[in-house]
Amino acid sequence: MKLPLLSLLSFACMMSYTNVSVAQSTEASLIEQGEYLSKAGDCIACHTKDGGDKYAGGKAVASPFGAIYSTNITPSVEYGIGSYSYKEFEQALRHGIRADGEFLYPAMPYPDYQKLTDEDTKALYAYFMKGIQPVEKANTKTALGFPFNQRWGIRFWNWAATDDGVFVEDTKKSKEYNRGAYLIQGLGHCGSCHTPRGMLYQEKAYDHSGDDFLSGADVGIWYAPDLRAGKNGSLESWSEQDFVDYFATGRNKHSGVTGEMTDVIQYSLSHLSKDDLRAMAVYLKGQAGNKPSKLASSKASEQTTNVLNLAKVDIDSGARLYIDNCGACHFTDGAGASHVFPQLVGNSLVNADNPQGLIHVILAGSRLPSTADAPEAIEMPGFGWRLDDEEVAKLATFIRDSWGNKAKSVNADEVKKIRSTIAVDILNKSAP
Ligand code: HEC
Ligand code: HEC
Ligand code: HEC
Repeated sequence: MKLPLLSLLSFACMMSYTNVSVAQSTEASLIEQGEYLSKAGDCIACHTKDGGDKYAGGKAVASPFGAIYSTNITPSVEYGIGSYSYKEFEQALRHGIRADGEFLYPAMPYPDYQKLTDEDTKALYAYFMKGIQPVEKANTKTALGFPFNQRWGIRFWNWAATDDGVFVEDTKKSKEYNRGAYLIQGLGHCGSCHTPRGMLYQEKAYDHSGDDFLSGADVGIWYAPDLRAGKNGSLESWSEQDFVDYFATGRNKHSGVTGEMTDVIQYSLSHLSKDDLRAMAVYLKGQAGNKPSKLASSKASEQTTNVLNLAKVDIDSGARLYIDNCGACHFTDGAGASHVFPQLVGNSLVNADNPQGLIHVILAGSRLPSTADAPEAIEMPGFGWRLDDEEVAKLATFIRDSWGNKAKSVNADEVKKIRSTIAVDILNKSAP
């Protein structure tokens, strides 16, 4: 009698042991999935302040109404979201409602995150509750002026300025296209920078059914270009692989990343799988718009190249400045070198209506991020120590009007304004 009972018992033990380990391994894989999604959502970018503890908040997120401080989203019960139930987390992430019922400012991109599936929201919850360590650090209070300090007002904003949010699959398109659409519209919150804002500071469209979606917008002094492939021409010539290279390394045949996009590559996109990056490329390539292309004609390009190669004594001073300072890396044909020196012809930063980002790069230089696939953080030196405002203006005007580029001229006052925002040690960092 004893023997079968024992073996039955040990069998039962084994069973429950396997159940526990199955549960553990599903939990571990859920946490792992959540960690991956946290990268796709770039939660770290806003919820970690420079030099601060990961996810402990305190970073000022700029808005036209003033600085909004991100919060501690570690599982600290006292200071973070340690006591959040799944429902409360889901409400914060997808609907901008805090556990205490107050409304979050849309500096937290919940209008984009509302596209997330339940499954992904659960994985993120698992990661933030069990995959990271609590940090016992109190939040910095956001103190906007009246009326923006009245959080209840956000209820009306939500009603007027966001759409109903659920991700809509396009059943006529491939699985890959739809995966890209889901990542770009939702977790990637690409529209929070690349979509122009309306009167209420809302993104003018939350998916490609609106023409404004990802059609380019100013972000501080930088310009987040039009991503609707064919629309402004410069992305028209990018292949799927060019997009994948840019996302994984911040560089490709045409361009090198600068400004606000650098961190997006460094902390988010360069950590995603190649399948996901390709899906995003497929989706973007599928959005070709209908505006005429601004791509440089090869004739105009040849003309500038000839002028620079001949370098006659009476050459325009902008062209002279280009030969002396820039030609060594970007070459007389403005084509640069694939994956190292970006192409200036048809470049969206060079051709942006707002020249401030270009001026900033000339004055302060720029550094490509180091990523797993391209660890070399190649740098462009700054020229702020060497060129005065008038010279930078002439140079910028020259490259915005050469090789077929067509953008308005730049004046010394615009340069002066940007110079005043850059710290002196950065302006002098490339000086001998
Ligand atoms: C573009 C910046 C930005 C990004 C990206 C971002 N957040 Fe936030 N988040 C904020 C800000 C700012 C607040 C605080 C808003 C306020 O106080 O009204 C916030 C608040 C929150 C809250 C509410 C916390 C509380 O104090 O009750 C949660 C939860 C949260 N974020 C989770 C996330 C997760 C998860 C991700 C990534 C999927 C993420 N956030 C990405 C800016 C961001
Ligand atoms: C924080 C703001 C911000 C977010 C979020 C953001 N971008 Fe950008 N993006 C920019 C800026 C600014 C540039 C211009 C960089 C430059 O000029 O080198 C840019 C450049 C790009 C370019 C290169 C365009 C060109 O013509 O050179 C691509 C492609 C791109 N972003 C795709 C994306 C995708 C996809 C997402 C979402 C996963 C995204 N971006 C999210 C700000 C942002
Ligand atoms: C020593 C080589 C070198 C020299 C000289 C140089 N650059 Fe660059 N440039 C680079 C590299 C490398 C990058 C990529 C850095 C990045 O994108 O962060 C770059 C990036 C740029 C970009 C941004 C392109 C984009 O796609 O966002 C512009 C515009 C630019 N350079 C213009 C100039 C001008 C104008 C001059 C002359 C004043 C100049 N460069 C001199 C190496 C150089």
